[in-house]
Amino acid sequence: MSFTYSYSYCFYSFLSLIYSGEKMEKGRLNKGFDIIGNIAIVKFDGKLPKNEKLSAVKEVLDKNKNINTIFEKVGMTQGEERIPKLKKIIGKNSTALYKENGCSYYVDVKKVYFSPRMSNERLRVIKQVENNENVLDMFCGVGPFAIPIAKIAKTVTAIDINKNAINLLKKNIKLNKITNITHYCGDSKKITKKLDEKFNRIIMNFPLSAYKFLGTAVKKCDKKATIHLYSFVKEGDTTIIKNEIIKTCKEYFKNIKIREYRAGEVAPFLERICFDIALSGYKNKLIKSR
Ligand SMILES: C[S@@+](CC[C@H](N)C(=O)[O-])C[C@H]1O[C@@H](n2cnc3c(N)ncnc32)[C@H](O)[C@@H]1O
Repeated sequence: MSFTYSYSYCFYSFLSLIYSGEKMEKGRLNKGFDIIGNIAIVKFDGKLPKNEKLSAVKEVLDKNKNINTIFEKVGMTQGEERIPKLKKIIGKNSTALYKENGCSYYVDVKKVYFSPRMSNERLRVIKQVENNENVLDMFCGVGPFAIPIAKIAKTVTAIDINKNAINLLKKNIKLNKITNITHYCGDSKKITKKLDEKFNRIIMNFPLSAYKFLGTAVKKCDKKATIHLYSFVKEGDTTIIKNEIIKTCKEYFKNIKIREYRAGEVAPFLERICFDIALSGYKNKLIKSR
């Protein structure tokens, strides 16, 4: 990675730490609080008095009869495992049963990263999958890409460093009666390097740092493949990352087509972008290194 690139990404990471979540709206609650099954996750504007918090919570409960647990987002998403910092306001359990894109998931909102706001974006990717594909999900979480894709694709390999996420993925595989997912718990860079297989599609949904894993991913691509690389990008400015994608991929592939999809604003001036990278015409170097 070039200096400019690393420097820019330090800046983006810094921004994402400041804002640490979704856009704020004037008023008591963050716009469109998240609902995951019977759990709601709210974020309050500044230091709101307790009585105002409680009346906002009552509003959430009155409008959403199936919610029985509410957590407040009280800090930044933590570390590499992207664990949310939540405080319980009411309710018992931090595990919800959540439905998305025709599949069901157990999600422990205190132990794993999960954003229901990504559901349409996940569907966009899922719809591209064909039934002869071998797919690698390098940052799988509880499986919201891996599981619906496994219903279509030949095989799915799913990796996450968070053992709670992998334990939930295992439960979710059973819950959805899936038989073609191989899963690993650990660092995606190390595990991916050891895989013998080549992949037709690779999903890299770790917007804070996925670009650091692109060199590893591209070496595991089949002759023709698509990579979905998520990244935080300063609003409207995708040039730096696109140049880096081209630099990394052109070592191994002759033809590189990049398309950008906006997958949510995470903070003012900071967007989550999915770069769909279509690769074909692999070079001899790649054949030898496999
Ligand atoms: C933004 S979350 C996405 C999870 C999932 N794809 C989803 O859509 O819900 C990023 C995930 O990457 C995982 N992760 C971070 N660093 C990792 C690494 N070096 N190797 C494997 N997984 C990693 C985190 O534990 C987290 O579950």
